[in-house]
Amino acid sequence: MPQDFRDPNTAREWDADTSYYNPMRPEQLEMLLALAAAEYQPGQTILDLGLGSGQVEALLFERIPGAQVVGVDASAAMLEIARERLQPYAAQYSTLLHDLTQIDTLTLPARDYGIVISIQTLHHLDDAQMQRAYAFIHRTLRPGGLFLLLDRIAVEYASLFGCYQTLWAQQDAQRGSHVGTQEGATFAEHQAKNRDRADIPLGLARHLELLRAAGFEAACLHLYTHRALFAGRKSQLLTPAEFEANCLAQRSEKVLE
Ligand SMILES: C[S@@+](CC[C@H](N)C(=O)[O-])C[C@H]1O[C@@H](n2cnc3c(N)ncnc32)[C@H](O)[C@@H]1O
Repeated sequence: MPQDFRDPNTAREWDADTSYYNPMRPEQLEMLLALAAAEYQPGQTILDLGLGSGQVEALLFERIPGAQVVGVDASAAMLEIARERLQPYAAQYSTLLHDLTQIDTLTLPARDYGIVISIQTLHHLDDAQMQRAYAFIHRTLRPGGLFLLLDRIAVEYASLFGCYQTLWAQQDAQRGSHVGTQEGATFAEHQAKNRDRADIPLGLARHLELLRAAGFEAACLHLYTHRALFAGRKSQLLTPAEFEANCLAQRSEKVLE
């Protein structure tokens, strides 16, 4: 039976301990929050694809007191936990119940979206759905806006599975986590566990390829085994004067060479 976040028990169980199987989460979330705080401009809105139980927003509103958020999620049970958790911030966020596999039918409130974030959610979308999601995010962001993705990525090679296991065992010993159990004893078991969780993560290179194809300047900023933090910048549209200035600068660099 695949993990179903729409089930209230699953939602509460997941919310109760989010580091047990993912000890990198606090550290990587801290990085994402620092990036969002450095980027956020008053008056802009942050879009969160997969707002879930609102754990990230609780941290975000502490870090950026005036932030405005629109959050999307397919689980009413997760959004109910978010509603309870985020009562002090009720005026700062709104939510939409929507399945992100159908992102093209998602209508957002008209806002100036400077940042889009997505945490541990988009790995439930297949390759074609990811392409549509990245295109949607690119359309939604203002020019110059930033997309931050923190998510599980695929373990792609059976031959390297032992390397992942070594690092997961090290991590579990150091942090008292249970990543090894969560990810399986063999590559075949790992794939079966992914199926149970309805996880269909893309590989690192494919993420970068799709982000760039969607129009982002994209990089992986942090990676620990199968947990990655990506950033994608929607390029600024240059004014004709800026374009000319860039061309001139490039020409003079060539002359100096
Ligand atoms: C692991 S939780 C992460 C929640 C939140 N981003 C966080 O990090 O605290 C995954 C969330 O993704 C949502 N989700 C999974 N598949 C989805 C889909 N196809 N459309 C919308 N939301 C989805 C689930 O309902 C759940 O709230």
